[in-house]
Amino acid sequence: MIAAVIKETTSGETRVAATPKTVKELIKSGLSVRVQSGAGAASFYGDKDYQDAGAEIISDTPSVLSGADLILKVAPATIEEIDILPEGSIYISLFQTTKRPEQVKKLSAKKITCFSMHLIPRTTLAQSMDALSSQANIAGYKSVLIGAAHLPVYMPLLMTAAGTIPPAKVLILGAGVAGLQAIATAKRLGAQVETFDVRPEVKEQVESLGAKFVEVESESNDGVGEGGYAKETSDEYKQRQQEMIKQHIAKSDLVITTALIPGRPAPLLIPTDMVDNMKPGSAIIDLAAENGGNCELTQGGEIINHKGVIIDGTLNLPGTMQVHASQLYAKNVSTFVTYMVKDGQLIIDLEDEIISGAMFTHQGEITHEPTREAVNNF
Ligand code: NAI
Repeated sequence: MIAAVIKETTSGETRVAATPKTVKELIKSGLSVRVQSGAGAASFYGDKDYQDAGAEIISDTPSVLSGADLILKVAPATIEEIDILPEGSIYISLFQTTKRPEQVKKLSAKKITCFSMHLIPRTTLAQSMDALSSQANIAGYKSVLIGAAHLPVYMPLLMTAAGTIPPAKVLILGAGVAGLQAIATAKRLGAQVETFDVRPEVKEQVESLGAKFVEVESESNDGVGEGGYAKETSDEYKQRQQEMIKQHIAKSDLVITTALIPGRPAPLLIPTDMVDNMKPGSAIIDLAAENGGNCELTQGGEIINHKGVIIDGTLNLPGTMQVHASQLYAKNVSTFVTYMVKDGQLIIDLEDEIISGAMFTHQGEITHEPTREAVNNF
């Protein structure tokens, strides 16, 4: 079977779905690997590195795809790309399926079997395939560095001959993978960190990293949904949460928002009036920008200044650390692929919960229920 790695065409996408190391792993499992010339260039892997690892280098996209059985990508397929994908092939990428019904419909019509690395189940066995975690970790780390660079103040406590500088106050909303890494990074820089999440069970993890967990007391809440993810909360809870965030945000220098609910728009946690209450010179880094943002003023892909407060909605932070982002993502992909390959053949075992969980189209059907709903409502 032939696995093809094509060049990313989405603007700003610097990552690549295979590294020379994972090409070797794919070949060892019995696959042949083709890499489009320049596919790894933005992540600093040259054609020669892939060639030395055993890949065939091909210059243009249609030739790489011609006769390929398996296509490995980072960004989701564009309409133009789907037009040239081989009918009946297998396609793997990061794909927020409910946001792209048109593409899903087209992929399904071409009988392409699609897997989204976003849909890999969060189980112990699938941990090494968990691209959401590997990429969110990077986003959490980088958000703090970007935030610190926006601030007109130091992060750590400093005692100098000219006076004492208090530590910066950092508020992190959402303590999933990105939020926990943001806490750890802000603590390493010496900031005073507070964190809030709707899932009370994260309190222990937050405190073990040295941050203060801010609690919202409410009888009606639990923000805990299926599979350990958050779900939408009651109106009464939302109101208490807003009051609590408002108090804490007014004192913060840096706010990092990471709150997401899978398959839904990001919850609005910071309306404009709360930003109006923030200190001039403070900053918000909105990691939920891709899903609409946790701050009302966030503009995806833009950095804006609202009355002296910076609101940074930069997208694809993992793509700004593409060497490690590609290294980890490519490893997630190759682990998933080699999990499915037996004796050089890729076997799609529909009884397997990792394989069926990550799949969203197969043999002309949309196999993932929320994706099917999104396509039907399109
Ligand atoms: P996510 O990216 O879906 O959400 C980020 C955080 O935002 C979550 O902690 C969520 O509770 C929080 N959030 C949602 N709505 C909020 C609101 N209104 N206000 C404040 N916070 C809000 O989450 P992520 O990082 O993908 O992790 C979700 C879960 O998956 C966690 O329980 C994590 O421990 C678990 N997980 C399990 C793994 C495994 O077993 N292999 C691997 C990675 C994560």
